[in-house]
Amino acid sequence: MCGIVGYIGKRPALPILVNGLKRLEYRGYDSSGVALLVDDDIWCRKCKGKIKELELEINDAQPNSNIGISHTRWATHGAPTTINAHPHLGCKKSIALVHNGIIENYSILREQLKGQGHVFTSETDTEVLVHLIEEFFTDDLPAAVRTALNLVEGTFGILVISPEAPNLIVAARRGSPLVIGLGEEETIVGSDGAAIVEHTRNVIYLEDDEMAIVDSHGAVVRTLADKKVLKAVEELPFDLAQIQKGGYDHYMLKEIFEQPDTMFDSMRGRLQVEDGSAILGGLTGYWERVRSSSRLVITGCGTSWHAGLIGEYLFENLARIPVEVEYASEFRYRDPIVDKNDTILAITQSGETLDTLAALREGRRKGALTLGLCNVVGSTIARETEAGIYLHAGPEIGVASTKAFTSQVIVLIQMALSLARMGPLSSESGRRIAQELAMLPEKSRSILKQNDHIKKIAEKFAKHNNALYLGRGYNYPVALEGALKMKEISYIHAEGYPAAEMKHGPIALIDEEMPVVFLAIKDSVYEKIVSNIEEVKARGGWIIAVVTEGDTRVKELANEIIEIPPVEQCLSPILTVLPLQLLAYHTAVLKGCHVDQPRNLAKSVTVE
Ligand code: G6P
Repeated sequence: MCGIVGYIGKRPALPILVNGLKRLEYRGYDSSGVALLVDDDIWCRKCKGKIKELELEINDAQPNSNIGISHTRWATHGAPTTINAHPHLGCKKSIALVHNGIIENYSILREQLKGQGHVFTSETDTEVLVHLIEEFFTDDLPAAVRTALNLVEGTFGILVISPEAPNLIVAARRGSPLVIGLGEEETIVGSDGAAIVEHTRNVIYLEDDEMAIVDSHGAVVRTLADKKVLKAVEELPFDLAQIQKGGYDHYMLKEIFEQPDTMFDSMRGRLQVEDGSAILGGLTGYWERVRSSSRLVITGCGTSWHAGLIGEYLFENLARIPVEVEYASEFRYRDPIVDKNDTILAITQSGETLDTLAALREGRRKGALTLGLCNVVGSTIARETEAGIYLHAGPEIGVASTKAFTSQVIVLIQMALSLARMGPLSSESGRRIAQELAMLPEKSRSILKQNDHIKKIAEKFAKHNNALYLGRGYNYPVALEGALKMKEISYIHAEGYPAAEMKHGPIALIDEEMPVVFLAIKDSVYEKIVSNIEEVKARGGWIIAVVTEGDTRVKELANEIIEIPPVEQCLSPILTVLPLQLLAYHTAVLKGCHVDQPRNLAKSVTVE
């Protein structure tokens, strides 16, 4: 989604702002822009398309300025055009503003402001903010911003500059994150730490309804009700190397290949093999409440929701705790029956997904215990939950989630194992699962070594327009995830189904043109899935099967096989998903798609 960068300090602002935008490209965007204060005036360039178009628009200009704001826009209100791109300037050109989020009461405000003589040029909701601030601005910019923001409904992360207040940037947030980086005689503000980390790792996180008056020496933070707030300086939990491609062609490929390490990091210091359990510090003091919950409601979106589905199998099978998995967007609006006996577990890589946040708040309002499973340290959901566990997967830049998914499942297993060992699971069974879990990083390496083999399958796959992904039990969510990866980045229409459901519809689609990807490892549903493979074979489908090493039966039926090492059934999703990630990646590259920034998608969806 939209990205924000602001700079004030001793260096020329423009290159820092443009470079910062490049660091935020991964979030997904369709236009960009920058505004600087130059000689009592606002210098502004913006355009539709990628940052390289903005660079062409800037055309080697070197405006003399040490203060500015910049933005990547992911269109919500109004098409992705140059006029709709941010920054927006007021009619008097006395204010420039960038905004993430949505102003819900923009049409009423727009009419009022038009009535007061303001002239609107864009179709955006954002533009009302700049006119509103201009309306209240006499000589105190922070006061004008505060007054304006108290009139708006919706979500915002904004930066505002004015030639009439040339030594400060005003930043404010409600719902859209802002991080303030404190450098040496310079301050950099970003919608995430990726825009800041190459300058400093010392940061302040703004909370909702807080406003910062930022200058080159740092920031003074007050609430929108004008109360001073003392903020702690925290350290960004990653460095520059972690957000670079490290020799890979794409972030997604880098992140796929990082998984042996990120899997290990998600278990490091946690997994207790001998006890068949895990120490998850973030849940200390909450285990009894979780264990005695009448049910666990897991909520999330996209890939995180798929991890939640695997969690349902894990918590029910191992710990015998009833689980429901809910799309956050549905849960938040359907007046769910939740009470103090429930536990809500929000799963989210970014910790910023708006629907997941709203679902969590809904659960909390109704008295449930709220837990979070997040990757981004210090993210909104990580802060708002009562307790939680970090993934420790490192920054995930590729829009299609890969390493965060496997880490989510690893953390869910450790959580389920710990709960199970407090209840029905014997130490022997717990130890067996924990030993197997500890071996997954190594086993995953052997799967990743089949990269070239999978690329060859992708060469054939890329010629098709549709695909089916089928799995059962623990691997049904993996079928959903494999199909999601394929459609997200290759734009091939792919559907995931529980394999047996194929007979209730999708079977009508099967002919020689239909690739069908089966998750067919040796587990308790193996015989059943072999029958489903036979059914597809009988109708001429092109079968690609992920099988257990040494399997001969499926080998005879399938056109292509990808082998994975033998693995405990409940841990298998962590391995079976890997070939599907690679298959999607290579198919997309062969089709010439923009793997790391697929069209229309955003890494972190901070609007409804
Ligand atoms: C977007 C991303 C997906 C992600 C989903 C949920 O759609 O493109 O990769 O799975 O949001 O994001 P979250 O950060 O909450 O896990």
